[in-house]
Amino acid sequence: AAIRREDYTAPAYWIDSVELTFDLDPAKTRVLNRMTLRRNPDVAELPLKLDGEDLNLARVLVNGQGTSFKMEGTRLVLENLPTGTDAFALEIFTTCCPAKNTHLMGLYVSQGTFFTQCEAEGFRRITYFLDRPDVMASYTVTLRANKAQYPVLLSNGNLVESGDLDEGRHFAKWVDPHKKPCYLFALVAGKLVAREQKIRARAGTDHLLQVYVRPGDLGKTEHAMNSLMASVAWDEARFGLPLDLERFMIVATSDFNMGAMENKGLNIFNTKYVLASEATATDVDFANIESVVGHEYFHNWTGNRVTCRDWFQLSLKEGLTVFRDQEFSQDLAGSPSARAVKRIEDVRVLRTAQFPEDAGPMAHPVRPDSYIEINNFYTVTIYEKGAEVVRMMHTLVGREGFAKGMKLYFERHDGQAVTCDEFAQAIADANPESDLARLLPQFKRWYSQAGTPRVKATGSYDAAARSYTLTLSQSCAPTPGQSEKLPFVIPVNLGLLTHEGAALPLQLQGEAAAGAPSRTVVLTEASQTLVFTGLDAAPVPSLLRDFSAPVVLDIDYSDEQLLTLLANDPDAFNRWEAGQRLALRTAIAAIQGGAPASSDILPAAVVDALRGVLRNPALDAAFKELVLTLPSETYIAEQLDVVDPQRIHAVREAMREQLALALKADWEWAWEQNQDTGGYSPDPVSSGRRSLSGMALHMLCIAAQRMGDEVWPGKAYQRFKVASNMTDRFNALTALVASGSVHAAPALARFHALFKDEPLVIDKWFALQAGAPDKGGNVLPAVRQLMQHPDFSLKNPNRARSVIFSYCSANPGAFHRTDAAGYVFWSDRVIELDAINPQVAARLARALDRWKKLADPWRTAAREAIARVATRPDLSNDVREVVTRALAD
Ligand code: ARG
Ligand code: ZN
Repeated sequence: AAIRREDYTAPAYWIDSVELTFDLDPAKTRVLNRMTLRRNPDVAELPLKLDGEDLNLARVLVNGQGTSFKMEGTRLVLENLPTGTDAFALEIFTTCCPAKNTHLMGLYVSQGTFFTQCEAEGFRRITYFLDRPDVMASYTVTLRANKAQYPVLLSNGNLVESGDLDEGRHFAKWVDPHKKPCYLFALVAGKLVAREQKIRARAGTDHLLQVYVRPGDLGKTEHAMNSLMASVAWDEARFGLPLDLERFMIVATSDFNMGAMENKGLNIFNTKYVLASEATATDVDFANIESVVGHEYFHNWTGNRVTCRDWFQLSLKEGLTVFRDQEFSQDLAGSPSARAVKRIEDVRVLRTAQFPEDAGPMAHPVRPDSYIEINNFYTVTIYEKGAEVVRMMHTLVGREGFAKGMKLYFERHDGQAVTCDEFAQAIADANPESDLARLLPQFKRWYSQAGTPRVKATGSYDAAARSYTLTLSQSCAPTPGQSEKLPFVIPVNLGLLTHEGAALPLQLQGEAAAGAPSRTVVLTEASQTLVFTGLDAAPVPSLLRDFSAPVVLDIDYSDEQLLTLLANDPDAFNRWEAGQRLALRTAIAAIQGGAPASSDILPAAVVDALRGVLRNPALDAAFKELVLTLPSETYIAEQLDVVDPQRIHAVREAMREQLALALKADWEWAWEQNQDTGGYSPDPVSSGRRSLSGMALHMLCIAAQRMGDEVWPGKAYQRFKVASNMTDRFNALTALVASGSVHAAPALARFHALFKDEPLVIDKWFALQAGAPDKGGNVLPAVRQLMQHPDFSLKNPNRARSVIFSYCSANPGAFHRTDAAGYVFWSDRVIELDAINPQVAARLARALDRWKKLADPWRTAAREAIARVATRPDLSNDVREVVTRALAD
């Protein structure tokens, strides 16, 4: 049944303290849970109902005495509790089986080591509890286990005692000095080693940082530790938020449903976001590690010190923390151009993943109104759109104003479990004169209304009046359960350029003098008109600079205007955007026109402009690579009402081939220019050079394939063999595989042999093949083969994702087969995975979210595949919710 936000009530009991004692055993772990509780005097007297899941209950004692209890579904219900509001003791003894826990929620075993994952509702798989984030308690945890098998015993907070027990066992006792909700509880026990770093904070306090990994992996922890030190320093410098623990630990596990988890003082990470060496990780991996380490660390304040009242408020911590990690990466990147590159990458994620979500069956507001399974709402809307909402507040109050708002937020709410409203209120109250304060109730529609707003811009120039009239109209399409939308508050950063590309000073009608060439206009109405004066000719508008709001901007640019923006806009984001618009409109015209996809789709002027960008000595390589990358098939599909995935694929491939051939000499030049990146460093400049040279090599292999020439594939194979870092090696391998070179098979074999003991690299090996371009339907059989490979396992989420998701979600040309075999494969895997790990299965289930947009025969086949999943009687809540919403009208 659905849980609704409006049904929130405070808990009937508070849990003040928890003493947990674990006897860790993979087959049967004993958990003794001794709590102190009190009735909540603000709530009517109710029985105590404790959440539990997959537990074996052995004993319940109240104040040391046996007591009556009953089960209500999976809940443990206690009715005969002491009357009054005095504290009482509740002791519960249960056992569970971590070895058989394939959901990877609660307590589980990964490669002989115990881990926990409690967010959102995993703690109930460890013991009976009030598993909700507004119940905050003090934790004391004692871990007992065989010392030889589990030499390291970790939990939240400080180690206060440890020692040996009989029969080769030992124990460790941990006390967390901070109260916390149970979703932040964690324990780890196993054979691990740590990289350690002592740091002294600004305030002069000493702290110990540790990164725990399996013994062979210590050499790959330097970057994670550096990222952690940078995170600590950044949060102090930018927001005045210090590390509040003597010891801060990160532990890596190769079996993890998501990226990482911010458990208080004991972050648990997917190895993918910890382990890196130049030989095994790409530049993108290095950048992801930096941002995820930052993200989890920043949760220590935004999430842990101030947490969520209920799970509808999830974006309170996630949107804010994503915003913080994005800013962290931008600040570390340094140069304006490197900041813009990061911004473009973030917007690309938003547009290719969140915009489709906002337009599909799973659309939900940043603060949802209801859910069936909360794990389905760890979405790009909560995270990335939530971050955009925080970013708009930042824009409306300014950088200093935002820092003041954060300060007030912590003054008011430190130690509390609060709502999104309370966050927005604090930022507004700290800036009483700001547009945010003035418009707060309307601004908060960003939290309550789902869907991506569209802003339509139309401009006209009046030569006699020397004025330019710009009309901006907003609308938002209906989403499930929300047919009417009210206007949003939309900050639009804008500027005007001359036709030659010079920035114009801005003067709105009624203003005394012309001002700066860039400003923020705040839209609040369905339609608003701006009149700019003092203009000698029709200007070229540059709107929504730096992507100042998460909206679709509809504007009828001429090719000429876009070429002006691409060559001259002082805003790097809009420069990139102009290039994307040029490519997108060409792609759409070609898709909709009936002509066969051939390699002269892009107009010559666009090809020349792209050459100009590629050759421009003033631009960074990373930025060039982004401009030269065509909009993705997913993004193109979103622009169309009816989607023929094969046609989109064919047109985009033809456009790529055109760029490969038409710019062949330029790619050769770019390859030569970007060879020497010195000793390996993942900094933005050298990683940008590797990314552009990788793209050049890829394009040259595509051109060679078309022209039947073997020179560049030969060079790529050579580069693959001698590369001194994974970025260059994997780029070369990708070029060989994607261009169908004869060297692809031997290179893949060699790659596997080289890295057979590196699971994260083997994931790349699987993903590359499952994501390879389709040649006459060859990818699906290859994917089936890969699933038979001895290294494949459905139980390991990273491996399952590397094969199944790479095929179903990241390879549209191969997945959307006309014989429907891709969809049948998808439904089989959803069902199969659901029995093992519902969270991962539900993610996969979303691969067909946008089925209603498909043309036939895909549409009918997709509906049948989804219906096939939906008719299974034994589905998890997770998958059931996704497929039910997909089939609803
Ligand atoms: N709070 C974690 C993060 O964003 C994500 C945990 C999600 N876990 C889950 N089971 N849904 O860093
Ligand atoms: Zn997070």
